[in-house]
Amino acid sequence: MGTVSNVLYLVLYFRIALEIGSINASRFKFTNFICDSVNESWLSVHQCRLKAIRRDTTTLSFNGTVLKTVSKLRVHAQIFKRANGFKPWLYNITFDGCRFLRKPYEAPVVLVFNLFKSFSNFNFTCPYMGPVHIMGFHLMGEQIPVPLPTGEYLIQIKWYIGKVLFLSTGIYFAFEENLSSYK
Ligand SMILES: *[C@@H]1O[C@H](CO)[C@@H](O)[C@H](O)[C@H]1NC(C)=O
Ligand SMILES: *[C@@H]1O[C@H](CO)[C@@H](O)[C@H](O)[C@H]1NC(C)=O
Ligand SMILES: *[C@@H]1O[C@H](CO)[C@@H](O)[C@H](O)[C@H]1NC(C)=O
Ligand SMILES: *[C@@H]1O[C@H](CO)[C@@H](O)[C@H](O)[C@H]1NC(C)=O
Ligand SMILES: *[C@@H]1O[C@H](CO)[C@@H](O)[C@H](O)[C@H]1NC(C)=O
Repeated sequence: MGTVSNVLYLVLYFRIALEIGSINASRFKFTNFICDSVNESWLSVHQCRLKAIRRDTTTLSFNGTVLKTVSKLRVHAQIFKRANGFKPWLYNITFDGCRFLRKPYEAPVVLVFNLFKSFSNFNFTCPYMGPVHIMGFHLMGEQIPVPLPTGEYLIQIKWYIGKVLFLSTGIYFAFEENLSSYK
């Protein structure tokens, strides 16, 4: 590709990015964070909480210690959307956590992982024992990488070693898509 078309491409790219930025005035907010079914021979949980830092912004923090060496990790993630109670919505995925840490796979999981990776210490591979944390994670509505209808959501993630469930996490958030500034 020639230099001129590269420049044109860049200009076009930034124009589109700007326009998307200006029409996508949306809001994202964590509303609850729950950690339960903790098997204390595998994991100790020091912190599992949300903190309001501004009127419209809450941060999510998890801090735990893996107490035994994990070399097989199965993760079951399911999304629910509220409509007379939380109903299953779109994704219900089971994946190999150790394989994922070696090389991320499963597009929707990769999308979510990329959002919080930089707030976490999740740059290890299996076998692993030791600290695991995500600290001060927050998002702006504009960072949501896929179209998402306005609503209240729950991402439930269950963490297993073999058949043993050692942690169940529930991340609740509200999303408001605001297209009123659409030109
Ligand atoms: C917790 O983990 C230990 C070690 O794997 C296992 O023996 C025990 O059954 C687990 N407890 C529960 C409630 O699953
Ligand atoms: C996690 O909690 C442990 C135990 O309270 C503490 O020593 C450690 O500094 C915490 N880690 C982070 C990242 O806050
Ligand atoms: C989601 O997947 C799990 C495990 O594969 C399965 O047990 C459950 O029935 C599924 N739920 C729905 C609503 O499909
Ligand atoms: C993981 O990140 C920490 C902190 O950024 C760094 O100190 C450590 O060397 C990294 N480990 C690996 C295996 O990349
Ligand atoms: C939508 O955005 C407009 C302009 O940015 C703002 O005035 C309005 O209050 C927003 N509506 C909602 C429901 O957030």
